[in-house]
Amino acid sequence: MRRKIAAGNWKMNGTSAALAELEALAPHLVQDGPDVVICPPAPLLYRAAEMAKASGIHIGAQDCHMQASGAFTGDISAAMVADTGATFVIVGHSERRDAHEETNGDVRQKVKCAWAAGLTAILCIGESGEDRAANNTLDIIGGQLSGSLPDAMTATNTVIAYEPIWAIGTGLVPSLEQIIEVHDFIRARLITRFGHDIGNAIPLLYGGSVKPDNAETIFKAENVDGALVGGASLRASDFAPIIAALAAS
Ligand code: 13P
Repeated sequence: MRRKIAAGNWKMNGTSAALAELEALAPHLVQDGPDVVICPPAPLLYRAAEMAKASGIHIGAQDCHMQASGAFTGDISAAMVADTGATFVIVGHSERRDAHEETNGDVRQKVKCAWAAGLTAILCIGESGEDRAANNTLDIIGGQLSGSLPDAMTATNTVIAYEPIWAIGTGLVPSLEQIIEVHDFIRARLITRFGHDIGNAIPLLYGGSVKPDNAETIFKAENVDGALVGGASLRASDFAPIIAALAAS
């Protein structure tokens, strides 16, 4: 049985008041059910991690730097993330690949830093709308996987999130067949490269306009082990039914 994970990426949303959502979410965790990870903005990480100790919610950062320390004004290292009490970090999100021009090589370095700090990396990959229209989806996904995933992956240090860029924040969601095709492809690639035991153990999350009303359908896919949720993770009242749908899947 693979670990199921419901992860929320708050992006650049939320100040102290948003921490109340963590408290509101706590009663919705399911005994022996999915792991719940919330990735708030960096200034909230420490307080979120302190609050989450009692509830069992896991806390993650949304990014870390590709080097361990140094003269990088405004950046945050993986060790700093771990020092807050967070245990996960998102790396390679398309919003960072786009707006900060992060390459696969940069992302690979970030994953290594995350592992060195003892964090679980949530590695994001996904094709653009143009890639999809040109029938290049699997090529792009394969290239991102080989380019941004270092060789030292273990069964427990990595989660992979497939997030088609055209589905993020748009309300557009791939068909279940399209999701199955990409997730099965990722699984097969992982098994080929890392062997059966590790390749089969890595949770694969779908991300992009996951909402309470489409989660049940998305979780029907065998190789979908959870979701990375943006907008619908900001309020416990929206995220709780997604956790429940994953628990029931
Ligand atoms: P939305 O759920 O808002 O589409 O965002 C998805 C995402 O980018 C999560 O990382």
